[in-house]
Amino acid sequence: MRRPIVVGNWKMNLNHREATYCVQKLAWILRDANFDYRTCDVVVLPPFTSIRSVQVLAEADNLKIAYGAQAVAATSQGAFTGDVSADMLAALDCSYVIVGHSERRKYHPEDDATLVDETRAILTAGMHPILCVGESYDERKQGIELEYAVGQVNDVTRDLSDDEVSRMLIAYEPVWAIGTGMVANSQTAQDAAHAIREHLASSFSTEVAERVRILYGGSVNSKNASQLMTQAKDMDGFLVGGASLDPDEFSAIVRLTQ
Ligand code: G3H
Repeated sequence: MRRPIVVGNWKMNLNHREATYCVQKLAWILRDANFDYRTCDVVVLPPFTSIRSVQVLAEADNLKIAYGAQAVAATSQGAFTGDVSADMLAALDCSYVIVGHSERRKYHPEDDATLVDETRAILTAGMHPILCVGESYDERKQGIELEYAVGQVNDVTRDLSDDEVSRMLIAYEPVWAIGTGMVANSQTAQDAAHAIREHLASSFSTEVAERVRILYGGSVNSKNASQLMTQAKDMDGFLVGGASLDPDEFSAIVRLTQ
């Protein structure tokens, strides 16, 4: 049985002081609601500069909220100005790291080999990669959205072992739904999650396909989360952008997902 998970991707928002306040408030709200963390993993992905503050708070207050990063370098160390390695993130007790978010694919294009190296670096450091895939409006218009998303999964996973893939999460995030308010309907989310799971079963094994958690991302909020979660059976949770910056809204999504 896969445990549901809600991941908040803060993108380039919240400095370290604001991050501390946001996580603390989220923890308070969930505590006051008697939230049972065994029913749903709760994760936040701050900018690099705020991760240490979240770690300090997590240690001091014994928080059950996990955290991670939005990107990572493919290499382990050296002359790569501005990059951050997987080991550096693991040393901050990060648990999850995004690979291939569409905003990274657009503004910091990386080839598939680099995405594979990033995925391996995250796994080797003992963390979970969250691989983002999803079609643009053009691919959807052409009716090739499922092939496109599954192809992106294949591009990164095909040379990985069953064990490596089992430790990954995959986020289906149609580009047209990100930050636009145009959330995918439950059938669209389910079709994509199902196609990805079928692909994992045929390329790896049914055990791998049953273990990988598949998330939906794109304009998720407290008004649409419940319907998506109950109707898209192959989906295990959400990757939330804008709505994760508001602890009240994010905690509501978490409670609708558990
Ligand atoms: O990583 C999160 C996604 O890009 C979704 O962002 O919830 O603001 O649409 P959004």
